[in-house]
Amino acid sequence: MKLNLGCGGNKRDGYVNVDKFPHFTPDVVWDLERFPWPFETDGAEAVALTHVLEHLGGPPDVFIGVMKELHRVCRAGARIEIVVPHPRSDSFISDPTHVRPVTLETLFLFNKDWNRAVLAEGKANTPLGLYHDVDFAVTRVDHRLTPRWAERLTSGRVSQEELRDAMDTYNNVIEETLYVLEVRK
Ligand SMILES: C[S@@+](CC[C@H](N)C(=O)[O-])C[C@H]1O[C@@H](n2cnc3c(N)ncnc32)[C@H](O)[C@@H]1O
Repeated sequence: MKLNLGCGGNKRDGYVNVDKFPHFTPDVVWDLERFPWPFETDGAEAVALTHVLEHLGGPPDVFIGVMKELHRVCRAGARIEIVVPHPRSDSFISDPTHVRPVTLETLFLFNKDWNRAVLAEGKANTPLGLYHDVDFAVTRVDHRLTPRWAERLTSGRVSQEELRDAMDTYNNVIEETLYVLEVRK
């Protein structure tokens, strides 16, 4: 089974398309903040969440519930594709239904190796993967730059290092990011 969660109007062939609104006639109408999700344990080989995760789990316990359900319904080795707007972008800030910034570190908190490594260094990051027995490896991170910064980079007006600084400092440098996760069980 492949799941396209929060499909909206972008339904995918070969996927079970899921949304909380019936407007675009998804295969399954379901509020992903309600648990358990109506999918079997270990049943999914691929999951897509395109511009969806930032809409889920304003209350921390609900977000953790979403991550737990994502882990439960996936089989070992399943591929999860997450696309989110950058938290420092107008796209993220402007939508009142965006309830949660999602960063690389948000996802690392659900990785057991990362949890153990930071614990060993005596750092304070909450080991959510260990606490909730979920484990996702981040296998790919692709940033899509805003047109203005993409042009500055390709024209050579900014270096990679200057771009890195800008990403950490300014708004509207990164438009959206693709994270690919591999499910570990
Ligand atoms: C920004 S749209 C993205 C739609 C689609 N994935 C795309 O790429 O065009 C977010 C979608 O997530 C759905 N969504 C938001 N919260 C949800 C929830 N709690 N359960 C299920 N779907 C939800 C919305 O209804 C909406 O269709």
